[in-house]
Amino acid sequence: MAKIRIYQLAKELEMSNDELLKILDDMGVTYKSHASTLEEDTALAVKELIGEQKVAEAARKAEEARKSIPHRPPVVVIMGHVDHGKTSLLDYLRKSRIAEKEAGGITQHVGAFEVKTPGGTVVFIDTPGHEAFTTIRQRGAKVADIAVIVIAATEGVMPQTKEAIAHAKASGAKIIFAANKMDLPGADINKVYQDLMQLGLVPVAYGGDVEVLPISAKTGQGVADLLETILLMAELEDLRADPKAEAQGVILEARVDKQAGVLASLLVQQGTLRIGDYVVAGECWGKIKAMSDAEGNRRTEAGPGSAVQVLGFSELPSAGDTFTWVPDQVAAKEITEERIEERKASEARGDLQRARSLADLMR
Ligand code: GTP
Ligand code: MG
Repeated sequence: MAKIRIYQLAKELEMSNDELLKILDDMGVTYKSHASTLEEDTALAVKELIGEQKVAEAARKAEEARKSIPHRPPVVVIMGHVDHGKTSLLDYLRKSRIAEKEAGGITQHVGAFEVKTPGGTVVFIDTPGHEAFTTIRQRGAKVADIAVIVIAATEGVMPQTKEAIAHAKASGAKIIFAANKMDLPGADINKVYQDLMQLGLVPVAYGGDVEVLPISAKTGQGVADLLETILLMAELEDLRADPKAEAQGVILEARVDKQAGVLASLLVQQGTLRIGDYVVAGECWGKIKAMSDAEGNRRTEAGPGSAVQVLGFSELPSAGDTFTWVPDQVAAKEITEERIEERKASEARGDLQRARSLADLMR
């Protein structure tokens, strides 16, 4: 680039002469007027500075956009060794939630439930054990933000505790340990700490950053602290979801009801799902005809963090499939047909490959 006049450079940079003159002043460049010529080096320096400013401005705007998206509740899965108290903890949490409601307290199994605390709402996946979690994860969906791994303080870390840790880590979920059965005389939290240390996990009590909370799923001791820790961790994670986005989430469970038809439980992770919406999930599609929540209430819409049971899928979707909003039935059908064809084509390619390698073997 040769010498350039200020007004030419301003035009090139899509700015007014005055704006560019101001920048030149800031840089300490002297000139007579906007018609003055700039040295090549100066023009390059101006361009670099503008480039940097644009990058910074774009980053600021992106951050602003992110911050304008509201927070969403954390989604938690409970895992742990056999008999360490997963179901009991879920039951306790479910009960503590129902207790808040006056009469009735009819609950419906929708795959997840909310616990409201003064510090915020926590969504718990209603299926203990890591089997459900694993199937969901194998399909590539990230459901839980946080895994609470229950360890009976009467026993300490057991084989499935280690499995649970591995699963949680692989999914990218943050881990909180709940040292359970603290109401029993044989409970020893130090054993739990030491077992975790053996795995290279240093508890907060030992100066590390691994949260281990003493609880009793039976008496409820420590459960409030557990909830508080979950919410603190969620705050650090800065979990956000846009309720205005196109609805998207994951199928938690699905079954066929003889009378009602296909009933699918799903967790909305982003956007808002409404009655009448079309969705696709794997090779199935549906038009949402009815929705109900864990309280058994009929819903017309479900925002981020809501788990609802929906009616309207054409066929049985699989747990772990992602569902996404589509504009209409034409789109729903075309997308699912494409997916079916793709799968068939890839299966055929697999068959062909197997046939070829077999032929190679027999040569
Ligand atoms: P699986 O689903 O079989 O893997 O077991 P789980 O992890 O769901 O354990 P569950 O909640 O069924 O608890 C196992 C046993 O421990 C039951 O008899 C519970 O009553 C008992 N239990 C669970 N938590 C506590 C607790 O905090 N204190 C006491 N005393 N007993 C508990
Ligand atoms: Mg259980």
